[in-house]
Amino acid sequence: MNIREITSGIYYTGVNDRVTDKFEGMWPLPHGVSYNAYLVRGSKSTALMDTVEITEVHEYLDAVERTLQGAAPDYLVVHHMEPDHSGSIPEVVRRWPDLKIVGNAQTVGMIKGFYHVDDDSRFVTVKDGDIIDMGDMTMLFRLTPMVHWPETMMTYVAERGVLFSGDAFGCFGALNGGLIDTELDTTVYRDEMYRYYSNIVGKYGRFVQQAMQKLSGVTPEYICTTHGPVWHEKIAEVMGIYDRLSRYEGEDGVTIIYGSMYGNTAEVAEEIARGLAEAGVKKIKIHNASHSDMSYMISDAFRYKGLIVGSATYSMTLFPPVKALLTALQVREVKNKVFAGFGSYTWAANVVKKEMEDFCTAAGLEMQGFVMMKQGIDEDVRNAARALAAEVAAKLNS
Ligand code: FEO
Repeated sequence: MNIREITSGIYYTGVNDRVTDKFEGMWPLPHGVSYNAYLVRGSKSTALMDTVEITEVHEYLDAVERTLQGAAPDYLVVHHMEPDHSGSIPEVVRRWPDLKIVGNAQTVGMIKGFYHVDDDSRFVTVKDGDIIDMGDMTMLFRLTPMVHWPETMMTYVAERGVLFSGDAFGCFGALNGGLIDTELDTTVYRDEMYRYYSNIVGKYGRFVQQAMQKLSGVTPEYICTTHGPVWHEKIAEVMGIYDRLSRYEGEDGVTIIYGSMYGNTAEVAEEIARGLAEAGVKKIKIHNASHSDMSYMISDAFRYKGLIVGSATYSMTLFPPVKALLTALQVREVKNKVFAGFGSYTWAANVVKKEMEDFCTAAGLEMQGFVMMKQGIDEDVRNAARALAAEVAAKLNS
């Protein structure tokens, strides 16, 4: 059982999930995931900060009761209603009949809709900037809509320098004993933060930017997210990653993603990659769209500044896994990329280029170059692939 005091009067009551294969039914969890919940124990009152997925409710309630040692909590603060955090609300409401649920107007509507908690006397509805006095601590509520749902909000406890940030600054990965970043190796969590952000929150970059503006006067000592480690030593790094990703600002490097049925389009991808390396690009990620999981392709497409996508022609359209990828990127409003494309055909010469141009137009991207191959690779295609690579490399360095 994972119970511990983070700083004076603030406790962790979250759980690990190493059973669920796919988060939201879609995104693989090779390292598991934590559903973080917390408990704030002031001199006048006590608040639970979020709950956990219903499958983990027994472990969660046990953690809360062991921490409270017989006391009853006064409040449950609900920062986010996605069921990985709100799923245990009905059990909490039943167990502590005098507990008040703290949320904004949208939260209350969602609790009624999801869980049929309809007694209005159970709710304390807060607005942006409202405060609840807990004695030696105060909870300041900041509404941060669309990070990741409309009701999302954060709480700042200034007396302890603790920000409860909801999904923001979170990542996949169960907690393997360590809870605060000072007591664990953060390598896997950093990589999983890119995947978590791009897959789950990626569509809402401008709202993340608005939330970060709202937080600009706050200098937390601890950021308690709803997934992954509590950030303490690495707050600047983590905020930097979220800031860059939400501005769609890529790191140095190129992601190549291709769809190939018989290996011909794959050969063009290899030629482009070799050309990039010869032009000095060191960070090159290549995904065969038929084999890489979508979540990793989205993550790398967000992470790196260069994006080169290739596709065989299939039934007069893009190869379906590539088409699905471009749709996923379009949904997430990916922008600010150095983008280039390549494709292959046997009898329909213009389909792939046209669909990639349409993608670029919709995304506001400029196509830096395009290589089209008829059937199998030859020297002309190899030269064109190398030229495209040189063009992309030059653009990355400009
Ligand atoms: Fe972890 Fe948007 O829920």
